[in-house]
Amino acid sequence: MKELSGEVFYPSKEVLKNSRVKDWDKLNDFASKDLEGFWDKEAKELKWFSKWDKVLDDSFKPFYKWFTGGKTNIAYNCLDVHLKSQRKNKVALIWEGEKGENRVFSYFALHREVSKFANVLKSLGVVKGDRVTLYLGRVPELLIAMLACARIGAVHSVVYGGFSVEALHERLEDSHSKVLVTADGAFQRGKIVPLKAIADEALQRAASVESVLVIKRTGEPVNMEYGRDIWYHELVSLPIINSKNEAEQVDAEHPLFLLYTSGTTGKPKAILHTHGGYMVQTYSTFKYVFDIQDEDRYWCAADPGWVTGHSYIVYGPLLNGATQLMYEGAPNYPFPNRWWQLVEKYGVTILYTAPTAIRGLMRFGDAWPNRHDLSSLRLLGSVGEPINPEAWKWYYNVIGKGRCPIMDTWWQTETGAFMITPTPVVPLKPGSGTRPFFGIKMDVLDEDGKPVADNEEGYLVVKTPWPSMMRTIYNSPESYVEKYWKKYGGMYLTGDSARRDEDGYFWIIGRTDDVLKVSGYRLGTAEIESALVSHHLVAEAAAIGLPHEVKGNAIYTYVILKAGVEKSEALREELIMHVGHEVGPIARPENVEFVDSLPKTRSGKIMRRLLKAKALGQDPGNISTLED
Ligand code: PRX
Repeated sequence: MKELSGEVFYPSKEVLKNSRVKDWDKLNDFASKDLEGFWDKEAKELKWFSKWDKVLDDSFKPFYKWFTGGKTNIAYNCLDVHLKSQRKNKVALIWEGEKGENRVFSYFALHREVSKFANVLKSLGVVKGDRVTLYLGRVPELLIAMLACARIGAVHSVVYGGFSVEALHERLEDSHSKVLVTADGAFQRGKIVPLKAIADEALQRAASVESVLVIKRTGEPVNMEYGRDIWYHELVSLPIINSKNEAEQVDAEHPLFLLYTSGTTGKPKAILHTHGGYMVQTYSTFKYVFDIQDEDRYWCAADPGWVTGHSYIVYGPLLNGATQLMYEGAPNYPFPNRWWQLVEKYGVTILYTAPTAIRGLMRFGDAWPNRHDLSSLRLLGSVGEPINPEAWKWYYNVIGKGRCPIMDTWWQTETGAFMITPTPVVPLKPGSGTRPFFGIKMDVLDEDGKPVADNEEGYLVVKTPWPSMMRTIYNSPESYVEKYWKKYGGMYLTGDSARRDEDGYFWIIGRTDDVLKVSGYRLGTAEIESALVSHHLVAEAAAIGLPHEVKGNAIYTYVILKAGVEKSEALREELIMHVGHEVGPIARPENVEFVDSLPKTRSGKIMRRLLKAKALGQDPGNISTLED
């Protein structure tokens, strides 16, 4: 390989010797020249009930289809396939609760639990194509319920357990879910999040939900509505429920899940993914990027409620027959060594997390990780936002002891799986996800659609389709076309700005729209604003993101109160809590500033750019469109 510019970390001899793919360029060349051939080969490593006629069907661009004519089932590939191999009694999942209790599932046991859950869903009348919303903490039942839905061809819609009433209500309503699966509560930092009580409030206005399955986690008393609410443990122990369940044979393009995510405007939109293509790319990326081996103990510290957990806790690892750890709690509770304790206890070999968590733990100093034996680690991963070189180096040196390459993976809810990422043999530059994955073609364009020069900033696009691409926005195919495909006719607009250096390495700069990354969580300014405006004393509101050392972005808001309402400290606090109640604690603004007017364009759009410039003491730039 040619000499690379800048600060470069080359793979060690040991990594080069042990990697599945030693010659990255060779495989990359093959995939770039024969994109369909590459994905065809990957797909053949999985089980299909009947083979596809076409790898890529582009007859209805941008509504691309993959592996058309093929029949499969992703949950079957995650579980049943391994029962026929040496992996049957291999550990699939080690779960540890916040208080230290643990549960261990072999592939055999997980298959049995998923089959029973599938039969419970069927007993409630759930059939192929029905939507099921899952609103749970980080417990094994979340993963089990997701796989159970997939198994019977139902479509799961997971709502992150940190979301609250209005966020859950909107998602239940938009998806027309027939069943809601929730729990009596979730443990978080020693406190209990009353999931069932929040769900009860959201359900008051969600007419489609016929049944609510309640998992017992905390043992706290909850309200059970007769005829609607059922304890999972009671239903599953009835004699009519057994573990005999044949996985549904579904078309490659059969919907697998909806996952709501924040966009530029309005309410969160449901991104739709399907069985076939999503399965192939989550399988393949997990295999090559983490170079997974049977003896690995993989740990993705994300929440299954977000796409990272969908693709790289539930599907990618299980498709590969990996052994993984799932932890219920937070990184620094009760002490900042909680994660390092877990790495040591379970001999974790691969740790995959977000820059915000790394920065948060870095703050507590090196003594906490240094107290533990982290020598089992061989690979590290990062996702969700750009990782600043300082955090990268701390992760690399203090956690990885200079031995573990960092896989900085760029992707989105929409892309379903990794898009820009190294594999372990690729030389690394701190802060860059290196180059696109095999078979992925990306570019950085200027306003007119021309590729920008090396190291110049532009719009990050994907030039050709990929198997795990979103298929549409549920209930809104026109916004799918408008938002992602219109600007550059035929290329996928990511919403990120980026630059590419002289070595072809991509550097993500940030979002070009009003999407914020707060502690790695994706939130839209519109959601926060509408939560504020839903308060009876608020007339108008604007939200912006300002840089924050640990969180990446911190939310700042500006509020115009209704005429005659007194500004007060108590009201400011009340508004912050109100956003927490509506959207969830993660969306609580850092500050609410009362103002008398907001900068707007002549067409009435709030100019958040100006608010941001003012808050940062920067030059506001072009203000010719400002109304006042
Ligand atoms: O801005 C990019 C950022 O996260 C956005 C996607 O967010 P979400 O759909 O929540 O998915 C996050 C987990 C895949 C992207 O548009 N992002 C994600 N990964 C990275 C990143 N920014 C820089 N580096 C990354 N590795």
